[in-house]
Amino acid sequence: MSNQRAGLFIAFEGGDGAGKSTQAARLAEALESRGLTVLRTREPGGTPIGEKLRSLVLDHGHGHIDARTEALIFAASRAAHAAQVIRPALERGEIVLTDRYIDSSVAYQGAGRGLGEDAVRSLNEWATSGLKPHLTVLLDVEPAVGRRRRTAGDAPEDRLESEADDFHTRIRDAFLELARSRPESYLVLPAHHPVDGLAERILEGVDSLLAAHHGVPAEILPGHEPSAGGRP
Ligand code: TYD
Repeated sequence: MSNQRAGLFIAFEGGDGAGKSTQAARLAEALESRGLTVLRTREPGGTPIGEKLRSLVLDHGHGHIDARTEALIFAASRAAHAAQVIRPALERGEIVLTDRYIDSSVAYQGAGRGLGEDAVRSLNEWATSGLKPHLTVLLDVEPAVGRRRRTAGDAPEDRLESEADDFHTRIRDAFLELARSRPESYLVLPAHHPVDGLAERILEGVDSLLAAHHGVPAEILPGHEPSAGGRP
């Protein structure tokens, strides 16, 4: 039996090709080997409707998608994900690891598409009823390195990935700024470091969080509304 007591919500963020999925898988494995229940999920996606929205917004071939439409599709996917998957798992006391969450929208749609970070944040706080991660692991990747990594395999780049390097530079800067504004809630690591070393540092960070974590904070309880204008 584990001594798991309350849900813990951890988001992995970073540019394309940062290695988030690899690190989320490593962390899940380490925590599960201790008997903890871990739910791994991703955005856009994570629910049947979210997976449909994922293909709508990422696949080429739907023609031009206007920036606000794009932001709303990501937010709609996230609303379903928060309500149907993340919040219930936290209430069951599980550890939720998500590959991307609100910061991705703030960075890609807010900074990358130029919709404004505050507007995109407010939209997403409303969409999720204020559900925020306890910790965000930011894997910081240089745009050129990210592009090299994701084009190394056979998979074609999706609609967002295939944007120019300056788009990815704005995204990188926005992620770093989010982390600078709330350093206590972020673990920022250089994505180009060796996988094993990164996995170790992430596990250490999560261990300190687990040690300090004795309850589910109010903002993740059902029906909680975000405070006006508050940052995530
Ligand atoms: P991701 O699933 O990380 O890519 P993959 O698994 O195919 O490597 O993310 C898909 C793309 O969607 C990525 O380019 C980032 C983008 N994205 C946004 O623009 N806004 C968002 O809110 C999210 C969640 C993702």
